Parts: sequence; C-alpha cells; structure tokens
Amino acid sequence: MPRIFSGIQPSGELHIGNLLGAVQNWVNLQQEYDCLYAIVDLHALTGVHEARGDLHQRTRDMAIGLLASGIDPEHATLFVQSHVTEHSELMWLLNAVTPVGELERMTQYKDKAAGLESIPAGLLNYPILMSADILLYRADLVPVGEDQVQHLELARGIARRWNAEYSPTEPFFPEPQPLLTKAKRIRGLDGESKMSKSKGNTIGILDSPEVIWQRLRPSVTDPARVTRKDPGTPEICGLYELHQHFSPPDTVKEVAEKCRTAGWGCLDCKRVLADNMAETLAPIRTKAQELTAAPERVDDLLAKGAAKARAQARATIDRAHELIGLMPPHPAATSTET
Ligand code: AMP
Ligand code: TRP
Repeated sequence: MPRIFSGIQPSGELHIGNLLGAVQNWVNLQQEYDCLYAIVDLHALTGVHEARGDLHQRTRDMAIGLLASGIDPEHATLFVQSHVTEHSELMWLLNAVTPVGELERMTQYKDKAAGLESIPAGLLNYPILMSADILLYRADLVPVGEDQVQHLELARGIARRWNAEYSPTEPFFPEPQPLLTKAKRIRGLDGESKMSKSKGNTIGILDSPEVIWQRLRPSVTDPARVTRKDPGTPEICGLYELHQHFSPPDTVKEVAEKCRTAGWGCLDCKRVLADNMAETLAPIRTKAQELTAAPERVDDLLAKGAAKARAQARATIDRAHELIGLMPPHPAATSTET
C-alpha cells in the first residue's frame, strides 16, 4: 500500500480554507492509504509568531481541529513532529547531501528572507527538515498545496543524491511525489487574496453560527452588485464558491439564478450561506468541544501516534546509519542503566 506523509504547522485553529484545501483531502486519503500526518511544530520555529509562548496550546488546538475534522487515529497516524526526535536526526544526515545553492533558490525562502536583517539558518534549512519528515517514513506520496511543490522537488533531489552516495545499488529512499488537490484555493472574505490567517479574511472551522454571520455579512461580493437591483455574475464571487462547498446542489443553482437576475440581494445570499455553513460545521464544532473538554484524551492519542511513528522512524535511522557506515554503538552503550 503506498504510504502518504503530510504535515501542517500548528497555527492554532483551522479555517475553512485549510479544511477544504487540505484537511478534507487528508481525511479521504486515510481510507485508502497508509497515512502519517504530523503537526510540524519544529517548522513553526522558523516563522515569526506574535506569541511563540503559546506554541504548546496551538499544537494541541491543531490536533483537536484535525481530529474533529475527521482524521481518525484508527486509520491514520497523527502525531507531533517534535515528539519523534528522529526528524531532527535525519535532517542532519540529509544536510550533508544538500547543496546550499538549491536552498537559496526556494521561492518561500526568498520571500521570507527578504527584508530580514539577520536570516536564521533555519529559514534556509526549512526544506531539509521537510524532506526529513517525508523520507523518515519513506513515503511515496505527499498531499500538499501548490506552494509546496518546489520543496518536494528539492526533497526528491535530496533522496536521489543520498541514494547515489550511500545506497547506489538499491535506492533506500523513494522519491516522494506531490499529490495535488484539484486546484482548490479558497478565496478570503476580502474577495481578493487567498484565505489566510495572516490576512484576517478567514472563517474558523469552530466559529459559532453568530460569528460566521458576523464575518460573512460585511464580506466582499461581485463589485457589479452596487445596489440590490444590479444583477451579478456568480462565477466571479467568492461567496458563490463557498456555496458550492457548503450548500446543497439545488441551493447552489438557486443562488446562481437569483444573483444573475437580482432576485436576491447579496445579504440574502449571505444569510443562506451562513446557515448552511453553520450546519455543515456543527458536528466538527461539537466534536472539538468534546475534545477540548478532555485534553488528556487528545494528548494520549498524540502519544500513541508518536509511538507508532517512532518505531518506523527509528528503523529508518538505524538503517541509514548502517548504509552510511557510521560505527554502531556497543549494545551495552544503548542501555540506559548505569
Ligand atoms: P497554511 O497554514 O497556510 O500553511 O495552510 C495549511 C494547509 O492548508 C496547506 O496545505 C494549504 O495548502 C492549505 N490552505 C491554506 N489556505 C488555503 C486556502 N485559502 N485555500 C485552499 N487551501 C488552503
Ligand atoms: N512546509 C509545509 C507547509 O508550510 C508543512 C510541512 C512540513 C510539510 N513538513 C512537511 C508538508 C512534510 C508536507 C510534508 O505547508
């Protein structure tokens, strides 16, 4: 069975862009593949966060969001990256075969490093850690968004070079391929940019019906609809796009027609969307509330996930050490007894 690995940064609560663009895909894949999903807290250290102090909380909140959205620990291995220390270990081994020139060519690096007075090495090496995440489990497929495709290409290059160097006769690391979701890029409530927490144009998957309405009401629609009587073009409206994800097919049809004929004002359309969205998200919210009330259950699930991941990770590191030809420790030295 092909193996899948993917990671998500602990940004705290998920928004509907994350849900539709990434997490729902993860949920669907877990039925058919051997899936490992990590909350990549070590990657988050390279980002600028207003409140790094609450990384712990954001990590647990992300776990709750993923579990509530349908990631099922019975079907997928869900864990926190820093709980499996082998990620950092493999990263060092991969460092040895990664050209700095390639790291410097990464678009994400160039964007994030631009304007920084002092560039942390972690920002440059970020894609090596990402490669380590994937190669540690010798994963074949990696569901990611468009923006991560370049990092995956780098990961394949790293795997290739490592294999050429240390396991030329029988490649040890498979070259991981991206698994792109069908061009899903959910627009934010500003009607322009991608929905993103940093833009403040999101709806959280755990938002209450009241908050959903408060957020949707002032959101930007087709600019042609200046007054209620002006007809619009549903295809260019971000809210029509959301209807397609949250409303039943008949409603979607009705929305399109009422927009084109100015039968509804934008506010009517938003009201219907808010109700359908609240209804779709209600079970996720209920599940999240249950998990929030039982944090020890969440921590226990994450511990079990980490234990499962660690067993595989350790085997990869041990074999990699062997292939490199590092001196194995004396068996007595691996015992923790004094
Ligand atoms: P981020 O926290 O922005 O790195 O996003 C985490 C995951 O959600 C990535 O796989 C993104 O591709 C996906 N994602 C984030 N924002 C959107 C969006 N507006 N539309 C679709 N997918 C998104
Ligand atoms: N870099 C990815 C992002 O920002 C997150 C990530 C870390 C990841 N390690 C990964 C994604 C491994 C896929 C596989 O979205």
